Formats: sequence, C-alpha cells, structure tokens
Amino acid sequence: MKKITIKSIQKKKNKLPITCLTSYTKPIAEIVGKHCDIILVGDSLGMVLYGMKTTRDVTLDMMISHAKSVRLGAKNNFIVVDMPYKTYLTKKNAYANARKIIKMTKCDAVKLEGGREIETIIKHLVKKGIPVMGHVGLLPQYTKNFKTRGKGKRERKKILNDAISITKAGVFAIVIECVVENLAKEITKEIAIPTIGIGASRYCDGQVLVIDDMIGLSNFYPKFVKQYSKVRKIVDKSIREYCKDVKTGRFPFKKNIYRS
Ligand code: KIV
Repeated sequence: MKKITIKSIQKKKNKLPITCLTSYTKPIAEIVGKHCDIILVGDSLGMVLYGMKTTRDVTLDMMISHAKSVRLGAKNNFIVVDMPYKTYLTKKNAYANARKIIKMTKCDAVKLEGGREIETIIKHLVKKGIPVMGHVGLLPQYTKNFKTRGKGKRERKKILNDAISITKAGVFAIVIECVVENLAKEITKEIAIPTIGIGASRYCDGQVLVIDDMIGLSNFYPKFVKQYSKVRKIVDKSIREYCKDVKTGRFPFKKNIYRS
C-alpha cells in the first residue's frame, strides 16, 4: 500500500471516499491497515474493551499503550490517536500530552473533540508541528445524550460554526459524529478539508466506524452501523467446539502432540 500522508488524504476530497476504522490492538491493526486510509485509535476503547460507561475515564497511558500496539501491527499506516478527556485543557498541557503521544507511539496525528472553545488549543498544537484531526457534532467526551445532533436551528448553526472555526485553526480533517444528513452535507461543502462521518451520512468525504461494531464483536448496533460479519457468533461456536473436544478427550488431537 502506498504511504498515506495528510496531503494524500486531503487530495481525496471531492474525488475518492476516505476509509477509516478504529483499531485498538496489533492483530486488528494488521488487517485494518491492509485496507483503510486511516486507522483511528479511538478512546471508544474505554467502553468497547474496558466496559466503561463513558470515554471520560480513559487515561493518556491507556491510549499510549494501545496506540503502541496498533503501530506494531501497522508500521506504514496513517494512525490517529484520540486525546482523552481533560488532557487538552490548556495550551501547555495539550502540547505536553500530544507530544508524549506522538513521541511514544510513533503515530501520525491526534484527535480532539470540540469546536470554537478549543480553537486556540488546536492552533497552538498545529503551530508546534502536531497534526490535529477535529471532531464535531456528538462529542462522547462531553455528553451522556447520544441522540442525533443538528435537528434544531441553533444547534445546527453552532456545529457548522464549530467546523469552520477548527478548520481555520488548522485541523487537517474533521470527524462529524451523529448529525442529520443535510448538516453533514452543508459542512462538507462549506469547508476545504475532508469530513469523515460516523452516523453522518454518505455526503461526508469519508466514513469511520468502530471496528468491533462493524464486525459484530460488540453488542452495540446503532442504526448507523452496518454489521459486515458476526464475529461474536464465530468465536462462540469455536469455543463451544473446543470445550466439547476437551470434555470428550478428543483434544489435543494426534497432530497437536509433540513426540520424542
Ligand atoms: O473514539 C472513537 O472511536 C471515535 C470514533 C467513534 C470516531 O472517536
């Protein structure tokens, strides 16, 4: 696969849809990296892997540890790492934490949730040479209400302005989460950088999903997820068969035994 860069991602706008999936570990990253333009080490890992109720309890160390694992499985891919809740409150701590992520994981960029309120933080990171991906619409770090955004006039205007503000601040692309279709369309038309949608319609320049949801490993299937396989069922069947083989004395089979 040709090396993906910010330039090559941005060149795809209005031409070729951008593909992105989350990965939290090396084995999955090895597969995702073969196909996707961008790998996202999302802080959704807190809920998906650790059973947390929100992403707010995810720590910087958790993100670094998983991003290191992902980098091992995807040596040449473009990898974005989520900055966890409260790790980008001031310019100083945002830079120290973003630098630590990039330095320790060798990943390519960080992602921050928010709009106009984090404009100065984004500007500072970009000025210091840290590539930043934005995230507007539904912001999991800041809400317990997971309903679609942008239905009302005021909220719609705010999300559009947020996308414009952070574009001006220097993000190279923006994730738009769970907004009504015509708002995603308007944002995508309005800004010159790529939009990557999750529950935000086909009008975005690219799409992202949580890998565990789209392969049917998690138990979370909101409307915007297409389940491409049922991995949970496959794993269940394999474990059931293994247990049966052990209990009936069939496993280990002859070919699984070392002989002197
Ligand atoms: O944390 C995450 O996985 C994300 C995606 C849902 C976009 O931010």
